[in-house]
Parts: sequence; structure tokens; C-alpha cells
Amino acid sequence: MKELVRSTIEVTDNTPDDQLAQPRIFGRWGLWLTLVGAVSLTSGMAFGYDQGVIGGALTFMQAEFGFDSFVEGLITSWVTLGALFGALAGGTLADKYSRKRTLIFAAYLFVIGALVQALAPSVEILILGRFIIGFGVGVASVAAPMFVAESAPAALRGRYVSGYQLAITIGILAAQFSDYVLSQEGTWRLMVGLAAIPGLLLLLTTYPVPHSPRWLISVGRREDAVESIRKTKGTWKLDEAVVEIEQELASEPNSKWSDLLVGGARRALKIAVGLAIFQQVTGINAIIYYSNEILADAGFETASAQAGASLIAVGMVNVLATFVAIAFVDRLGRRPLLIAGMTGMLVGLIGLSVTNLYESTTNDTHTIVGSLSIIWMMVFIASFAFSLGPVVWTIISEVFPTNVRAKGMSVATAVNWGAAFVLTLLFPDLIDWFGSSITFAILAGFTVLALWWTWANVPETKGKSLEEISEMFADDAARAEA
Ligand code: BGC
Repeated sequence: MKELVRSTIEVTDNTPDDQLAQPRIFGRWGLWLTLVGAVSLTSGMAFGYDQGVIGGALTFMQAEFGFDSFVEGLITSWVTLGALFGALAGGTLADKYSRKRTLIFAAYLFVIGALVQALAPSVEILILGRFIIGFGVGVASVAAPMFVAESAPAALRGRYVSGYQLAITIGILAAQFSDYVLSQEGTWRLMVGLAAIPGLLLLLTTYPVPHSPRWLISVGRREDAVESIRKTKGTWKLDEAVVEIEQELASEPNSKWSDLLVGGARRALKIAVGLAIFQQVTGINAIIYYSNEILADAGFETASAQAGASLIAVGMVNVLATFVAIAFVDRLGRRPLLIAGMTGMLVGLIGLSVTNLYESTTNDTHTIVGSLSIIWMMVFIASFAFSLGPVVWTIISEVFPTNVRAKGMSVATAVNWGAAFVLTLLFPDLIDWFGSSITFAILAGFTVLALWWTWANVPETKGKSLEEISEMFADDAARAEA
């Protein structure tokens, strides 16, 4: 077996085993791993683009169809609602038809939804298009991290799933950019129609990749599973890897929804759902949504000036800080990133709260307060981008045992979309009722809770195989029951 890895690693008799087991991104099996990465990138980009594009398109849709604020709310929120239902369906589809075919299905939904929106002759059809694309986003947000986590080698798993978050942020940035450029002409149909591109790319990248080895073994296709592992992880410890998956599946053969509530799966569910909620209630989407007002306060008066500034202060910061997670998630681990990032988010929120309090109690000029607010907003977004953003998707994709992974991820992801839906709906009301200073203080309160809860409940999973993680959780559960 040592010969097979010789081409990518300088092997000596003293080379430790764990070093041999380290996969190389550009080695013999690098092509397949690169494709797995491409699947993660394209599905994340579709997620981000569809979530981000509506901000700039709404004004022009309004001008054409002339709808009221209720309909405006529907158009905005139906992607999130569609995603909630898509996430619920995604797990069942991924188990029944495979992770790969489920992603292909989501890709078709991206393309169809984008076209329906771009060609919509009426508001009703526009809303239908938003729902179709949202459903696709939800399905993909379960299937993509699952597929990637099951296909990537343990030593690179965090980086691969964080790559998915990087793609979400690139998608949001691309949406902001197309909003900015196309807003000169007001061509909203092109803004929403461009979402077909990541959909088409997802189709192209997903077709050639092999099925995830765990899914193949779960449906009895052992030979194909061996081939899949050979392609994506190389031949080092090939038999061990297959046997490990088989043993895990054999020890927990049934998969009912209620299986999520027993043993190691129950602990996994608690961690995944907890993190899914905290990712949203600490306010990321509300802050992104609110950024234009912060920018207006800082002196960016026109819509186009705000769009340009938010491209940098929100979009670029979000993308760049995600690289920190990619660099460190498999080296430092999940926990240190989460704790450091949430501390940074807390600083940003307290800063926003205090600055807004100062603004409301003094007659200070808007511009100084606004400029400070931009800094706090950037601190918040950067801290989210290297912690709760990527690490939550990583942990959700790795904590569940294989037999209930799809169901568990479905539940956690649907909860994540549900929380996003409620918070974005409530945020403008919270600002109306309590004012912005108290609203940011409430988000800071949730962040303190998130910090404490993570500290107490989230274990380190860096470098462990998915089977080792399952074992760790099962042992903990058994010990707790004893
Ligand atoms: C969250 C999204 C959020 C995005 C921002 C993702 O991890 O799930 O709700 O909009 O990060 O980058």
C-alpha cells in the first residue's frame, strides 16, 4: 500500500502511519476530491445568490407590479419558507435516491425556479418561482454538506464543508454585485435569472462524481463503495474504511425518525439543533438586512451608494473572513473557532447597541455614529464568518451516525431555516417596538447564551472519522445512562 501513496508523499521507513493517511488535494485521487469540492462550491453559491439577490431586485419588481408591503414580505420570505420544506424533504430524498441524485434534483430546481422568476408574467408566478428555488436551496443545504462530509477524508472534512460556507458568502457577494451593476438599468429579471448559472454549474459538477461511499454501503453496493473510496480517499486503509462503515451501519440498522431520540443520535440532535438555532438568533441575517440603514446613517445617501458600500463592508468581509475558518478549522479545531468568533460577535453587537444608544440620547451628527456602526458591523460579520457560519454546517454534517444522518441533518437544517424566517420577519418590528439599541442588546444576550451553551455542550470533532465521532457519542450516551 505504501507504493500507492509514494507518488504524492515522500515516504521513508520512518514515515508515521497517520501522515501516510493524510490525503493530498492534488495527488493521484486529487481530481475526484476537486470535483467534490466543486459540488460544495456550486451548491453553496446557489444558496447565497438566491438568498442575497432579492434586496436589490425588490424596488424594481415593485415598480413593475405595484404590490403592497404584505406581498413584498411574501416575495422576500418565500425562499426561506421553501427552503424550510426543502430541508425537511432533503433527508428522505438523500436516503432513498442517494445524496448525488438529490443534488441533481436540487440543481434542476435552481434552474427552473430562476427561469420562472425571470419570465414571471404576474406576482403569483413570481412567488411560485421564489418557492421553487427556495425548495431547491433547502434540499441542497441538507444534501451538499452531507455528500461532502461523507466523501471527504477526515483530515480535510472541516475544510471541505467550510468551503461550502465560503461558496455561500461568494454567492451573496455575487448577488450584491449583480444588484449593484444591474440597478443602473433596473433589470430585475436578469438579476433573478442569473441564479440559473450556479444551478447549471451544480448539474455539471455533480453528474461525474461518484456516490458517497456511506450511501452505497447502506444500499448494499459494496463494490461501488470500495471504488468510491478509492477515488476520493485513495487506497490507504481502504479495507479498514469499508469495514468501519459496515460495522457502524450493522450496529444501528434501523432508521426511523424516532431513532433520532435515542443514544448517541439524541446527543447529536441536541448539538446540531442547538447550533442551528444559535446561528440564526444571534442575528446574522438581520444585520445583513439592516446594513443599508447603518450605511445610510454613515452618510451613504443613495441606494446605489449603499449597495456599493455594502458590497465591501458586508460582502467582501464575509468572504475574506471565511478563509480564516478554512485555514484553521481542521488545525485548531471547531471549538476554538466557535468560542473566539462568538466572542467577536458579542463585541460587535455590544458596540452597535452602545453606539445606537449614544445616537438616540445626544444630538451628535449622524456621520460619526454611523461610521462607528460600520466598524462594529464589520467586526460582527467577520467574526460570524470564521465561526458560526462555517463551523455550524460542518458540525451538523458530522455528528449524526450514518443510519440517521440524513434525517438528523434534515431536522437541524429545517430548524435553521425556520429560525432565519422568524428572525428576519420579526427584526423590523423589534426595531419599531424597542429601538435599535435594545434590539442589538437582545441579540447580544442570545450570543452570551450561545457562548455558554457551546462551551458546555459542543465536543471537539476535528480529525476524527465520522465513525469515530458516532462511537464517541454512543459511548457518552451509554455512560450517561449507566
Ligand atoms: C447562514 C445563512 C447566512 C449566511 C451568511 C450561512 O451559514 O446559514 O443564513 O445568510 O451564512 O454568510
